[in-house]
Amino acid sequence: MFRNSILRLSSSIQPYGTKSRLVTIVCQRSFYSTQNSGIEFKENSIQVNDTAYHRDDWTNVTPTVLSKLERKLHLQPRNPIGIIRQLIEDHFNDFATFNNVSPIVTTQQNFDDLLIPKDHPSRTKSDNYYFNKDTVLRAHTSAHQLQGLASGANKFLISGDVYRRDEIDSSHYPVFHQIEGLAYFGGQDEDQVAAIQADLEKAKPIPANIEIVDDTVIHAGNPKQDRHSQVVMTPLVAHLKHSINSMICHLFADEPNLKVRWIEAYFPFTSPSYEVEIFYQGEWLEVLGCGVVQQTLLDKGNRHDAVGWAFGMGLERLAMVLFGIPDIRLFWSQDNRFIDQFTPGQINKFQAFSKYPPCIKDISFWLPPTEWHDNNFCESIRGVAGDLVENVKVIDDFVHPKTNRRSLCYRIMYRSMDRNVTNDEINEIQEKVRSTVEQEFGVELREKK
Ligand code: PHE
Repeated sequence: MFRNSILRLSSSIQPYGTKSRLVTIVCQRSFYSTQNSGIEFKENSIQVNDTAYHRDDWTNVTPTVLSKLERKLHLQPRNPIGIIRQLIEDHFNDFATFNNVSPIVTTQQNFDDLLIPKDHPSRTKSDNYYFNKDTVLRAHTSAHQLQGLASGANKFLISGDVYRRDEIDSSHYPVFHQIEGLAYFGGQDEDQVAAIQADLEKAKPIPANIEIVDDTVIHAGNPKQDRHSQVVMTPLVAHLKHSINSMICHLFADEPNLKVRWIEAYFPFTSPSYEVEIFYQGEWLEVLGCGVVQQTLLDKGNRHDAVGWAFGMGLERLAMVLFGIPDIRLFWSQDNRFIDQFTPGQINKFQAFSKYPPCIKDISFWLPPTEWHDNNFCESIRGVAGDLVENVKVIDDFVHPKTNRRSLCYRIMYRSMDRNVTNDEINEIQEKVRSTVEQEFGVELREKK
């Protein structure tokens, strides 16, 4: 059951399925304290804020990975990860939201509660970041399903940073973000069906520009659970599918031809189980895993009388597609040229920016008595410097008290997208800029800076 996908996030975004994963290099134990955070690596323990986690043979968390704990990209309103999280929360507007739950969880939460067998490959040290044998950085937001059930909400979303040891390339990073959704319906079969139907009647239809390819059926290979009746499962699975399809439509509202495909999958905590893929740049891209919640799990959450569905979706891969972000590391960038490109509530295409250093030059002059327009000035600079000019801003603006003449000083930032620029080359351009604005606008240049 291997499929192609161009942007793979962590060997698979669903390590709890059938696929096996690669072993990565084991890190050395280090005695290290990360700067200005509550994290300290001690000889026998690792301190995170007020809690000390004793070290043992399982310990493999590193200072680098723990330094990500405080970033919480999904809560940054201008980060594409935060924007998508918010769009999904807005879409599922009758769901309770939990988006600030600590990623440090017990192995009970990450594995046992989810019925993941003791010998399942997803538990290995080479795939996870362990504090010790009982404590791990969550590898999926499913680790909080039981807490969600305990909250009393019958529909909820849980989002957060998740951690998996993995290979390194432009679409893999040891930390990424997921959003989990779970909905359940309690009561007798008739009550469950009525509540599911009521929701489905309110739901918006799927727009015509979206093609949904789905030939999955409930059968012995991907069965309904013994305790479930077909009468309830048919509408419940329809509810699950409609909920997911309409979320994807909401995110891809501006996509002219979207294709979504449902395929069978396996997860220990759902049955039947599915994966959803979207067709992107000629390939099917896996975006989420979902299914009907195992009744044992609802029992553990004291919801014996309820049936429900759950999904878990990686946010980075979606954000890379939606915002056109070519490298997963960019999400972590603290460069304003990255974060300033995005607006809460909006999906817009990312503009690449240069990794080369800038060369900065100032120009100041007395204005002519005529009206002054920044835009004309900028246009003129662009005419001389072309794409080498990245940014122009006023850094000084004053009116001489005696003569009443106005003086402006502009700072021009030159930078190339693909190489280092030299000071000599930029000096030459700056000279041309000076003489051009002098001639074009009749300004009186002041001394060079
Ligand atoms: N937690 C699963 C993963 O990360 C995804 C999932 C969530 C599947 C909920 C089914 C239900 O691989």
